[in-house]
Amino acid sequence: MNGLKIDLTKCTGFFNEIEMEDELKLADGMAKLLVSGKGKGNDFLGWMNLPIKENNEELKHIKECAAKIQSQAEYLINIGIGGSYLGVKAIDDALYLADNGTKILYSGNSLSGTDMRRLIEIIRNKDIALNVVSKSGTTTEPAIAFRILKDIMYDKYGKEAKERIYAVTDENRGAVKDICDREGYERFVIPNDVGGRYSVLTPVGLLPLAAAGADIDSLLNGAGAQYHACNKEGNSCIQYAAARNILYKKGFTTEIMAVYESSLRFFGEWWKQLYGESEGKENKGIFPASVVFSADLHSMGQYIQQGLRNLYETVILIEEAPMDILIPDTGGDEDGLEYLAGKNMNYVNRIAMEATVNAHVSGGVPNIIISLPKQDEYNIGKMIYFFEYACAVSGYILDVNPFDQPGVEAYKKEMFRMLGKPGN
Ligand code: PA5
Repeated sequence: MNGLKIDLTKCTGFFNEIEMEDELKLADGMAKLLVSGKGKGNDFLGWMNLPIKENNEELKHIKECAAKIQSQAEYLINIGIGGSYLGVKAIDDALYLADNGTKILYSGNSLSGTDMRRLIEIIRNKDIALNVVSKSGTTTEPAIAFRILKDIMYDKYGKEAKERIYAVTDENRGAVKDICDREGYERFVIPNDVGGRYSVLTPVGLLPLAAAGADIDSLLNGAGAQYHACNKEGNSCIQYAAARNILYKKGFTTEIMAVYESSLRFFGEWWKQLYGESEGKENKGIFPASVVFSADLHSMGQYIQQGLRNLYETVILIEEAPMDILIPDTGGDEDGLEYLAGKNMNYVNRIAMEATVNAHVSGGVPNIIISLPKQDEYNIGKMIYFFEYACAVSGYILDVNPFDQPGVEAYKKEMFRMLGKPGN
């Protein structure tokens, strides 16, 4: 079966073969360091084995709860922020899960009262279930959302609310965990050694995605296949990590993920957190940005083509898009489109992609192309693991700890001081 592929031919001209060979050796060494468990942040390597872990009991429990949620609710409100929601949203959108049974609504990822009011309007006359996801159990955004929505659940369902509230938390600590234990909500655990942005293949992602109808076995199988691929010398993860680090050293300090399916917009958001939070520290790191083409060619295209030359792109190419439609032959050419009559829209999208890559490369923007045969559970699972593994290797090349996020505390400290939180 054709799998995930990386194409670096559109980087030729920006670095030579010897530079690539040297960087590949470095990346290979960093992959070995990662696998040895002796690198920085080695107490957070639990994500590495998630796809191949024997966790049948937990999977069974997740599927039972997912089936219960499906029977209870039209909407599952998933409360969480950062790593506690971006992966779920990325996969939910990529698989078009909202077209099926229980739909996921997202909350606790902002402090906007408007967002909360609008959500409450949407769920007013609907059957709902609540899933609160917080590893620390103390993050302000999900904590406020949980307080408000839990109240609404009790108003709506009385004691039965307890049967409709689920949680994914740390095993031993945090306010959310304490509330769940006291109230007797169904609770799943985020393993201690898995950080938020690497947690989508734990119950953080698996529970809501299964409830929304995703085939989580296939998602894990895809990630598992990529796990095995990553353990081969010179694999695509190593090539990606090497290429982006050569470019970084040459002054290409911004990486733009470009997707050509709007359903992958949130995949870009998930990827930005993964790379931004893992690498952006000690005054170092590639700045991750994302665009959805061709829409953003009409907003960001000008800058990418002719702006500051510190950009490179990583293009996600889906060989067989989820759906397609023919451009009709209407028998006339008043719109000047007769030359496209009888062609599929995806054909035009593909040509737009190839043309954009050519134009951007000529404009001085190296392009890395990562292709996948399909946008299904198996392949999305592969892509998730691909980027996680490459991120860890890349962070080690940069000589940072890719598993911590000390900088996130700064805004919280100042916000708590200004809000008058006791003890701050
Ligand atoms: O990657 C991370 O660790 C963060 O993005 C967290 O996921 C995010 O801050 C939410 O934290 P918590 O799950 O503790 O509420």
